[in-house]
Amino acid sequence: MSSSHKAVLLLGAGLMLAASPLARAEEPGHFGYGQIATPAEIKGWNIDARGDDGAGLPPGKGTIERGAEVFAEQCAACHGTFGEGEGRFPKLVGGSGTLRDDRPELTVGSYWPFAPTLFDYINRAMPMPTPHTLSADDVYALTAYILNLNDIVPNEFVADRDSLPKVKMPNRDHFIWTDPRPDTTAKPCMNACTDPAGVKIMSTAEGNGLTPRTTGPLDTMQPK
Ligand code: HEC
Repeated sequence: MSSSHKAVLLLGAGLMLAASPLARAEEPGHFGYGQIATPAEIKGWNIDARGDDGAGLPPGKGTIERGAEVFAEQCAACHGTFGEGEGRFPKLVGGSGTLRDDRPELTVGSYWPFAPTLFDYINRAMPMPTPHTLSADDVYALTAYILNLNDIVPNEFVADRDSLPKVKMPNRDHFIWTDPRPDTTAKPCMNACTDPAGVKIMSTAEGNGLTPRTTGPLDTMQPK
C-alpha cells in the first residue's frame, strides 16, 4: 500500500471516530449507547398538533380553492375527487347521521371530534406513498377543502393555527372524555373497590368441561 493511501485511510478513520457514537457517549446524561438527538432531529419528529386547542399547529394558511387543486393532484386517485373514496380507499366525506346504525360510516365529517387532528393526520401520514412532502400551507389548504366537502366550513374559510381549533366538528360532543375506572383516577382504589352485593356472576366456564381441574403438568391436565 502506498503511503498516500495510508494517509487517506488514517484520515478516514479519524473522521469516523470523531462522528461516532463513542465520541457522543462522553456527553453528560448519556447511557453509553445511541446518540443524543440534535435539536434539528427533535424538530423533525415533534410535529404533533393537539386536537382540542390545536397546540403545536405550525404557522401557515390555506384556502379551499388551493386545497381542491392539491387534492386533485395528490389525493383524488385514492380518496375520489370529492372525498367519496375510490375502490376500498377510505371515504373522507359523508356518513352523517349513521353513527347509531349497525354499520356506521365513520368519516372525518361524521366521526372525527377535532379539526386540528385532520391537519395532524394529513401532515404526518398523507399522501400515502410519500408522507412528509407537503408544505404546511398545502396541508392547511387540504384540511380546509376536506372540511368544506363535509359542509363544516363555508367556501371563504381559510385554515390556519387560529381558525382550525375554533371549528366545531359535528361529532365533537359525543365523545366521553372522562375515564371513571378506579385505576385511572388520581387516588387508586386498593381494596373493597366494588360493592360485592352489586356484583352478579352471570355465567361461568365450570361445568362446561372448559376449565381444567387438576394441577399436574400441562399434558396430564384433563377437564373433569
Ligand atoms: C395511495 C392511496 C392514497 C393517497 C394518494 C392518499 N391517501 Fe389518504 N388514505 C389512504 C389510506 C389507505 C388510508 C387509511 C389509512 C389507515 O387507516 O391506516 C388513508 C387515510 C386518510 C385519512 C383518514 C381517513 C379516516 O377517516 O381515517 C385522511 C384524512 C386522508 N387519508 C387524507 C389524504 C389526503 C389529504 C391525501 C392527499 C395529500 C391523501 N389522503 C392521499 C390512501 C391514500
